[in-house]
Amino acid sequence: MIDYCRNISLRPYNTFGVDVMAAHLFHLKSPDQLQELLDFPAFKEMSGNMSQLLVMGQGSNILFTGDFQGVVVRNEITGIRVIDEDETSVVIEAGSGVIWNDLVDFAVSRGWWGIENLALIPGTVGAAPVQNIGAYGAEAADIILQVRAFHLQNREWLVLENSDCGFGYRDSIFKRELRNKTVICSVVFRLSKKGRPRLDYSGIREELDKKHVSEPSVMDISAAVASVRMSKLPDPAIIGNAGSFFKNPVVSESDYRRLQGAFAGIKAHRQGDQYKIPAAWLIEQAGWKGSREGNTGSYEKQPLILVNYGNATGQEILSFSEKIQESVFTMFGIILEREVNVR
Ligand code: EPU
Repeated sequence: MIDYCRNISLRPYNTFGVDVMAAHLFHLKSPDQLQELLDFPAFKEMSGNMSQLLVMGQGSNILFTGDFQGVVVRNEITGIRVIDEDETSVVIEAGSGVIWNDLVDFAVSRGWWGIENLALIPGTVGAAPVQNIGAYGAEAADIILQVRAFHLQNREWLVLENSDCGFGYRDSIFKRELRNKTVICSVVFRLSKKGRPRLDYSGIREELDKKHVSEPSVMDISAAVASVRMSKLPDPAIIGNAGSFFKNPVVSESDYRRLQGAFAGIKAHRQGDQYKIPAAWLIEQAGWKGSREGNTGSYEKQPLILVNYGNATGQEILSFSEKIQESVFTMFGIILEREVNVR
């Protein structure tokens, strides 16, 4: 039987720790329970109005700004299995409710390459393709082979190949055309048995040098990534947050040249013929780093992360984020787009 609750607080189910109520909450533990979900009166009452549906993993990329009157499905489908293997690579399928870092540990402890730079990212396997999680020069799209999902309206199984997923920077088809329409049940990854370290990003090489590691294994790299993350990013179990609140803005070359003329210290990563500017830098320059307003604020060590110091409401956090957007726009003429989903 599917586990179901009515009128329940979502506070334990979102890493911002915002206290809102859900009218209906289902704990989906297996794809076999999908039929039961579809037959449930609360689900049928939505009668195709999919804005009333929210499929969640660990709730680590969402900000609730009020009670949720619809149906929340918490994805708790577990299991990791090897489905193919040869001399150079291994293909694994992971249930969408598997904790992302458990998958990283599973792979890294076996010496498999490809996922090590994504150590300690909060959230579940099923959420990884949705926003194409990324860190330290790697992203989920680099290793995803397939996403297996159930289309709730058409009542059919979908197998999306990597090229069908429309992956971009923190973007995919699951945020656009398939938004609120599918339940991702598993993700298939291809990892390599012989890998190449990717160390050029944000302090990973320095962390390995500190430990005198010159030829790092996957374990060394994932440990270095974990140390760097722990030194900069707040642990949501201690201080509520949802990681980066905004995306790093991508601007044209001419806009970047204009900004360089006006702001000497500005930096960017080149992306084809465009430039990705660190939102953290823009927010710091606009004076928000470490600032606090009531129960919310911009984290002192990484200003791109907004935090809940205690009993912040989603509205408070959202209003604070809008002030940051306004002042960054006034100062630089750049629109900061949210990375976190607001519901
Ligand atoms: N910076 C500042 N001031 C600060 C901190 C950073 O100016 O206080 C500037 C520096 O120039 C630094 C640059 O921002 O070089 C980039 O900072 P960092 O390496 O911390 O990464 P980020 O671009 O802010 C992105 C991801 C993170 C991911 C890190 C590490 C996005 C929106 N965020 O942050 O992902 O962990 O890179 O690779 O792309 C997330 O998506 O939730 C997330 C945490």
